[in-house]
Amino acid sequence: MTIKKHTVAFYGIWPEMKDYIRSKMSEFHCTIHPESINTENLNKNADILAIFVESPVTKKMINALPKLKMIATMSTGFDHIDLKAAKAKKIPVCNVPFYGENTVAEHAFALILGLTRKLFQSVKRVKEGVYDFHGLRGMDLKGKTLGVVGTGHIGAHLIKMAKGFEMNILGYDPYPNKELAKTLGFKYTTLDKLLATSDIVSLHVPLFKNTYHLINKKNIKKMKPGAILINTARGGLIDPEALVMALQSKHLAGAGLDVLEDENLIQNEELLMSGGCKECQLKTNLMNNIIIDHPDTIVTPHNAFNSIEAIQRIVDTTIENIRAFAKGEIKNDVTTLKPKKN
Ligand code: NAI
Repeated sequence: MTIKKHTVAFYGIWPEMKDYIRSKMSEFHCTIHPESINTENLNKNADILAIFVESPVTKKMINALPKLKMIATMSTGFDHIDLKAAKAKKIPVCNVPFYGENTVAEHAFALILGLTRKLFQSVKRVKEGVYDFHGLRGMDLKGKTLGVVGTGHIGAHLIKMAKGFEMNILGYDPYPNKELAKTLGFKYTTLDKLLATSDIVSLHVPLFKNTYHLINKKNIKKMKPGAILINTARGGLIDPEALVMALQSKHLAGAGLDVLEDENLIQNEELLMSGGCKECQLKTNLMNNIIIDHPDTIVTPHNAFNSIEAIQRIVDTTIENIRAFAKGEIKNDVTTLKPKKN
């Protein structure tokens, strides 16, 4: 079957990816924008959008693109797209369901080890010319309990890695995978029990309405005193004010975060000063800055996906999604996802 001519607008594309995309999409008309999408840089002729997570696709944008027929997100998560608005216009939203669960799990482990071995403080000290280990005592992982919230692709890979460190593992998932638990050798429990008994809690859950502030003021207090919280999934899973309180009271020993709620506002002074933010977003931004500056945290800028191998797989799957759509076949459409059954 021949591919119909489509106009694909790519946003947030790094210079080194441009030639590769053009070479793989020669039958398409492509516009490649280095910046994220916004209401000012919309390509009105585009019938396909290809975007990364830092490009929020709002209802207003969807309605402003009269020819839009498909959205391809170069990510697993899709909470940056107004799915309801896309669905209303029968526009499929195609994601990259797998690009290597190891990539994000490895970053989560980097955050875990960074905190438990005080790597950031150690490196900083040596670079400042102080070659002295006093005050830098860390903690072994062997024999400690890791609580994995969300035992999907990434969570399961983290469990495999933690087994190599001889950790005990607890899992929580509303859809427990008993076969996985048997194969990898871990136990499922309730969220409350997991929080109460884990030395390290790592979140690997999508951000939905019902997972927003999954870790909140009420249940953060149930976490084991001195525990560490890791989040490489989505910022909205943790109430930032609850985390600030838990860190300031020393109830938690640390937090390793690759994602923050409303992270697009950080350093976006223009938006913050323009009055275009809600009061609650200003508060979130303040909490985020307290978290970033706290001595017991490591915050990375939504970078967990960003490995050479993963980017290649993400771009290739996105191109496959677009090519399939152009041939009349819809692949990886998240607007048609059905809730899982036990
Ligand atoms: P997945 O869909 O394979 O697994 C998610 C798991 O969470 C499923 O087993 C599901 O049953 C479970 N879950 C759903 N609601 C839950 C709840 N209330 N409590 C506990 N578990 C719940 O997804 P995958 O590939 O493991 O990715 C997880 C998340 O990681 C993505 O949704 C995405 O937001 C995030 N992510 C972050 C990246 C980064 O660069 N920081 C890169 C890729 C993904």
